[in-house]
Amino acid sequence: MTSVASFFFGLVVALSCLSLQQLASAADPSLLQDFCVADSTSNSNFITVLLNGMACKNPSTVTANDFYFRGLHVAGNTSNAQGSRVTPVFATQLPGLNTLGISMVRIDYAPGGQNAPHTHPRATEILTVLEGSLEVGFVTSNPNNNHFTKTLYKGDVFVFPSNAVHYQRNTNWNAPAVAIAALSSQNPGAITIANAVFGSQPGISADILAKSFSLDVATVNFMQSKF
Ligand SMILES: *[C@@H]1O[C@H](CO)[C@@H](O)[C@H](O)[C@H]1NC(C)=O
Repeated sequence: MTSVASFFFGLVVALSCLSLQQLASAADPSLLQDFCVADSTSNSNFITVLLNGMACKNPSTVTANDFYFRGLHVAGNTSNAQGSRVTPVFATQLPGLNTLGISMVRIDYAPGGQNAPHTHPRATEILTVLEGSLEVGFVTSNPNNNHFTKTLYKGDVFVFPSNAVHYQRNTNWNAPAVAIAALSSQNPGAITIANAVFGSQPGISADILAKSFSLDVATVNFMQSKF
């Protein structure tokens, strides 16, 4: 190759690597060390530096308990309007998860209970049913808004791609259901669609929501009053 050709070849390779790297950074960043156990004392009022994640505990003081959480054998309290409860094991609950890009939840469903449509801004979720049966689904992005839905039984596994609006509902009106899910972020976040749209503080203007949902303003005001 001429030096000009090899320069452009190098440029193309460098740009391809850069774009691949940008794709990979859609999830939590990669580790730069074996672990970075979250130092709960670093988030005090005395420290003004805010990090993307949590500061590392001194490795010489790290113990096995930093990588341990006990509690997912306990059923969550589903006495609420949705009839479900998510018990999180994120970096906040399990400090050793800090920077590892992964976490877990237990989800309990009352008979007929649901985990309302929501998205995780930072995570794909893979879910398995431990008890009962669930109607699950997710919707893809605009303009197609394809809806993929399925009924799951004990032992079944379903994946909700990152950012997709998704939900689960216990299809049994006589018995509870239980699921365990893993998420590809130490802190997946959740945006519950109904709360985000009708319950934000301050609220989105009722006339904007009325036009968006083809409703009248009085109906929107009523829906906003529910949140
Ligand atoms: C479950 O939550 C309800 C509603 O907040 C509460 O009244 C009830 O005491 C809770 N039950 C238990 C066992 O904590």
